[in-house]
Amino acid sequence: SRRVAKLRGHSTEAAAVLKERPALSGEASSDAEIATRKKTFSEVLAERKEQANRTVLINCPSKITEKKLLKYLSSHGNIKNHFFYETHGIYAVIEFSELDSIASLQDATGMPQFEDDCPIPFKSRIFTLTLKNPPSQASEPIHLHKQTTIPVGELVNKLCNADSVSAQLQILMEKYQLTEENTKLRFLACSLIQDIAGAYFPDCNVKPFGSSVNTFGKLGCDLDMFLDLDDTGKNSARRKTGPFNIEYQMKRVPSQRIATQRILSVIGEFIDNFGPGCVSVQKILNARCPLVKFSHQPSGFQCDLTANNRIAMRSTELLYIYGSLDPRVRALVFGVRCWARTHGITSSIPGPWITNFALTTMVLFFLQKRQPPIVPTLDHLKGLAEDKHIVEGYDCTFVSNLNKIKPTENTETLDVLLGEFFEYFGNFAFNKHSLNIRKGKEQNKPEASALHIQNPFEQSLNISKNVNATQLDRFVTLARESAWLLQQEGKGPSSSHSQPWGLAALLRTSGLSHAGKSTKRKRGPASERIKSLLDSLKFNANNGKRTFGT
Ligand code: GTP
Ligand code: MG
Repeated sequence: SRRVAKLRGHSTEAAAVLKERPALSGEASSDAEIATRKKTFSEVLAERKEQANRTVLINCPSKITEKKLLKYLSSHGNIKNHFFYETHGIYAVIEFSELDSIASLQDATGMPQFEDDCPIPFKSRIFTLTLKNPPSQASEPIHLHKQTTIPVGELVNKLCNADSVSAQLQILMEKYQLTEENTKLRFLACSLIQDIAGAYFPDCNVKPFGSSVNTFGKLGCDLDMFLDLDDTGKNSARRKTGPFNIEYQMKRVPSQRIATQRILSVIGEFIDNFGPGCVSVQKILNARCPLVKFSHQPSGFQCDLTANNRIAMRSTELLYIYGSLDPRVRALVFGVRCWARTHGITSSIPGPWITNFALTTMVLFFLQKRQPPIVPTLDHLKGLAEDKHIVEGYDCTFVSNLNKIKPTENTETLDVLLGEFFEYFGNFAFNKHSLNIRKGKEQNKPEASALHIQNPFEQSLNISKNVNATQLDRFVTLARESAWLLQQEGKGPSSSHSQPWGLAALLRTSGLSHAGKSTKRKRGPASERIKSLLDSLKFNANNGKRTFGT
């Protein structure tokens, strides 16, 4: 049908979002200019958020015909974009052109009837579609977008066929990075949680942060959400003249922390009781950074909802900037993160391990130390900024317009950089020095923690305070072995392409002698596992999920 044909037309929303920015050098921007100019972090966020608000999620029967579904939904308005994926059942993500279409669809949607249970009448944007009559003939299979990565073993095989380490890192990125569809789903999940929080605070904003949006996200990574209440009441124009001042009456609490805990407690309660598809809800309100953890089944994401966490939002934007500056940054970070995860240097369980955030900072520091530097220091980015940005008294100023940052003159290849990264940190004086990406220089360690990486914004804090000496030693030993391995087996593919080399050799768990293995030999595998479990429990009891603000 005509409507269906229209659905496939290309989108113009990117241009629409970019329109609000002034044209370069006073002339009208050409399409090519708009396409090549890098978007700011807030532009990306605003564009994706607006898309997500016009989007619904539909659980479909397995024998669905794409065409029929689109025709049926088109009676509520034009569909701009859609795709399918599978988690607990088949889901369709439907983005309408107009917001009104959602109300129209909701008006036509019935309440479910359960035999034994009673539904709680919370009308969300997640729907279940059933067929009134089973189809007489087999339907065409629909294309399901994958939301997970391929297993490391499969990846290693693919890497063997590349012809340089640089090409291997490119393959790793293509296979592991977030897809367009997965990113859309992440923004949609935030938008659905915003609907819930919006029942209490209509002006609130739920934004993704962390690896979902910092350009370093891997398929399957958790979804960090930030409940932002700062816009509440900001729009009211206070009258300067006249005999009165008028303010809202509000409850008071003794501190911002208590306010955050209460808000998260109530919203966590709502999510737990009424949030469709939200399961395993855990309120971790006594952590340094209070949060509500839950699993969002329809999207398949493990979510961490925090509030009043603006500095983390700034660190996310900072990483976004670094990740967008030079293609080598993301490639190297992906390579190092994947290497670390494969060898158990990082873990999904909180504990004395190096976090992905700390590891990324280490890669950035290394890139700042190259001659000439590949990425600028944070102080340099601060110098380019137009406006000051102070959060909770901390200076979080840096430039947000990527086009103002001069590209590097460094031309080193990733083949060189990966080896040098391991060489650099295999020999770094961690006992004496702290890493500081604000200055791009190592500094004397102000305290005794094993690994000291200065928090870029709260400068007296260490983002890797949780890391113990054992974990740092494992990192250093593996880095040395990896540097060595790259020199031996990293030169290029064998003629048959059958022998893992370069990055593939680094990702084989059997390829490295393993700092972890040698500890295992000493203590025995079971006691090692029990010890890390106990460590992680201790860590949880003390700090909650993570070492925020440490
Ligand atoms: P993943 O491991 O892929 O989830 O990476 P991530 O960058 O999303 O890390 P995580 O989910 O642990 O944290 C989300 C964001 O919170 C990070 O990107 C940082 O901005 C911030 N953050 C995480 N850990 C710390 C920390 O130890 N100190 C500080 N100051 N901020 C942190
Ligand atoms: Mg995360």
